[in-house]
Amino acid sequence: APAVAFHGERQAGVIAPQQPATLLLALDLAPAATSDGRAALRSLLGELTRVLAEAAGGTSADPRLQGGEPAQLSSLVGVGPGLAARLGLNVPAALAELPAFPGDRLDPARGGGDLLVQLCAADRWPLTVVAELLGTAARSAGATVRWTQPGFLPRTPSGTTPRNLFGFKDGTANPDAAEAKQWVWGPPGPYEHGTVLVYRRIRMDTAGFAALPEDRRDLAMGRRRTDGAPLTGTAERDDPDIYAKNPDGSYVIPNSAHVRLTSPRLDSGARMLRRGYSYDDGPDDRGLLFCAFVRDPEQFTRVQNRLAAKDALNPFLVHTASAVVYVLPGVREGGVLGEGLWA
Ligand code: HEM
Repeated sequence: APAVAFHGERQAGVIAPQQPATLLLALDLAPAATSDGRAALRSLLGELTRVLAEAAGGTSADPRLQGGEPAQLSSLVGVGPGLAARLGLNVPAALAELPAFPGDRLDPARGGGDLLVQLCAADRWPLTVVAELLGTAARSAGATVRWTQPGFLPRTPSGTTPRNLFGFKDGTANPDAAEAKQWVWGPPGPYEHGTVLVYRRIRMDTAGFAALPEDRRDLAMGRRRTDGAPLTGTAERDDPDIYAKNPDGSYVIPNSAHVRLTSPRLDSGARMLRRGYSYDDGPDDRGLLFCAFVRDPEQFTRVQNRLAAKDALNPFLVHTASAVVYVLPGVREGGVLGEGLWA
């Protein structure tokens, strides 16, 4: 397969097909006067652009990135609300930290950050090498690596939906191009090809969930684990009908089912582009790296407030880290990420 193009209107890390391996890497800039901070960020974005473009294009001078199978490396870079405020950057007005949600057990050392880079590739190898190169570039601009988080997906035939560690297909009900234009990408104007990434590291009690009888699991999700079809349909792509009722008057997709509480029908059709990955950080710490792209982080907040109140999955979930960033528009050949931040 040809390399994933680095250059384009939108960053490849949002739009390229999902790859089996991911690595998220957050950077913090050293505190500095605004003008120095802006200069440091400019030089850092220049370095990030160079490293990521070379790695994606297969032109990196690092011998560890040469001679293997094509890496299919794609990436995205985003800036956090704290940095944007500190340096007076041009970012969408909606960019803001998320509120606290009931049940959150967030580790600040695993979340937040001034900048977030997400790398995706065919396997783990190039991610580790590129992360090292990014770390070196960061230090030369006075930045430090705040946290990294690896994740993975099962390899599935292209066009099919990968499963998460509960065994369910995850990523079925994602927006089409028209919906994404309205709900994922910015409005026409400077942010049109940017988006906001909401990241949540969610620990899952996979063994506890697996111990439930199959029908209980399907009712908790509102879909069948086997084929991913909604309980109101017969095929994975059927739209869940949250208003369909059983003969006894109860909903087919129960009140606390995950696909009811996340249904766009409860939010005037609002949609998020979910590109989750699983993670495995040891026997008691496995789960989902929930990654959703939205125009406005409020879209996530509305859904998460409903989930936190009564998602049937809650007994098996703990949110352990969180981050929000404005994902920059893509860059033309010869350009540098973040050109729109300064005007
Ligand atoms: C749908 C799993 C957390 C938002 C789904 C589906 C599964 C799933 C299996 C159905 C298939 C699909 O459409 O992709 C999980 C698991 C979670 C989790 C295991 C935690 C570990 C979240 C969170 C949010 C969210 C935190 C947002 C606050 C959604 C949305 C849908 C969805 C918007 C699609 C609803 C629709 O359009 O029908 N999730 N999810 N999920 N989930 Fe989650």
